[in-house]
Amino acid sequence: MENSCETLCRSLVVHNGLQSESVDISQSVLYTSLMGLLLVADKKADIPLGSGQVGLRNVGNTCFLNSVVQCLSHTRGLRDYCLTKAYLQDKHSKQEPVLMNAFTQVLSRLWDTEGKDTVVNPSRFYSTFKEAVPYFSGYSQQDAQEFLRFLLDRLHTEINRRPAKCPPGTDTAEPKHKCFRLSEQAAVMWKKYLQRDDSRIVDLFSGQLRSSLHCSVCSHYSNTFDVFCDLSLPIPKRSGDKVSLKECLDLFSQVEKLDAENAPMCERCCRRTASTKRLTIQRFPKVIVIHLNRFTTSRYSISKSTVCVTFPINNLDLGPYGPVDCGPVLYNLYAVCYHSGTVNMGHYTACCQDEDGWWYYNDSSVQQVPVDQLQSSQAYVLFYQLNNSSLRK
Ligand SMILES: *[C@@H]1O[C@H](CO)[C@@H](O)[C@H](O)[C@H]1NC(C)=O
Ligand SMILES: [Zn+2]
Repeated sequence: MENSCETLCRSLVVHNGLQSESVDISQSVLYTSLMGLLLVADKKADIPLGSGQVGLRNVGNTCFLNSVVQCLSHTRGLRDYCLTKAYLQDKHSKQEPVLMNAFTQVLSRLWDTEGKDTVVNPSRFYSTFKEAVPYFSGYSQQDAQEFLRFLLDRLHTEINRRPAKCPPGTDTAEPKHKCFRLSEQAAVMWKKYLQRDDSRIVDLFSGQLRSSLHCSVCSHYSNTFDVFCDLSLPIPKRSGDKVSLKECLDLFSQVEKLDAENAPMCERCCRRTASTKRLTIQRFPKVIVIHLNRFTTSRYSISKSTVCVTFPINNLDLGPYGPVDCGPVLYNLYAVCYHSGTVNMGHYTACCQDEDGWWYYNDSSVQQVPVDQLQSSQAYVLFYQLNNSSLRK
């Protein structure tokens, strides 16, 4: 391993003309040459950017779209990918990525270096979106979270690195689960997913959830793995005016008792048995989108919880909801989407972070906001970025 790594480093340095191949490169020279190379590569990736402190015009009930676009516009890995148009090389499909192009056009005006606009009109992007996702145009309950899901899904489809249909024979056979360790089982499922779905959207937002089922009759454990692009968390119902994000996560991941009628079939007993079920995060995404599920649909109406959910700005530790012994997995907040008002008369806004601090985006208006004002009973969708240095090697 160490040797092959060194060989790779040597060939990188030689091929970039930093040292000649015939010279016996010492470890320290190799190191400095390599660092120089990395610095140059980093410079190349730097694209000229404006401040991004630009609002989006409300073009008729579009605050829910505007707030989500601002949050995505501050998702660096996505923004830079759009602005450099790298997706044109990456995508497999020959079809024009119309939505991605329209989205990129909005981003390039939001991040314009000359700062020509103080407000950008997103109409063209929104009409392209409605054409691409007809379901949404006739949709009355305009929910930012739902828009986010549809948008990411559609963008992913356009810029997928894999063909829409896998050629026959490339599909890996269903693994014989019993002979795999849990982590291997999860890795197989993940690999299978990537064979069909692989894009910058997946690189950034996709993670893997594990649902483990324990049969109370024969004690058999079985696992299923599902890909997720956001975590939708329940808000605990109890008296008091505040709950913490940790309490929402605990509720999400708590052991749930299922009676025989409601349980899935036990693999070993081959019948439905009283079981317990627990959800955990098997694979952590680079960006985790946390949806605070404030809306509850009953038979006749939708109600909204206005409880204040407190959340950490830095060092949100999701390790306790991951695989056993994974250690701390720390995330930092970089954007929040807010919902104010009632179910029928609501307004969406966003707070996003850049080098200068936090900014409040209320359609066309942009204002600086102190970090201690981010917590509010209106926080609805939280965007956290993985702090890579926190991961255990
Ligand atoms: C957002 O802007 C609207 C008008 O465009 C204003 O009525 C509303 O008070 C603003 N919201 C906040 C919280 O600043
Ligand atoms: Zn069983």
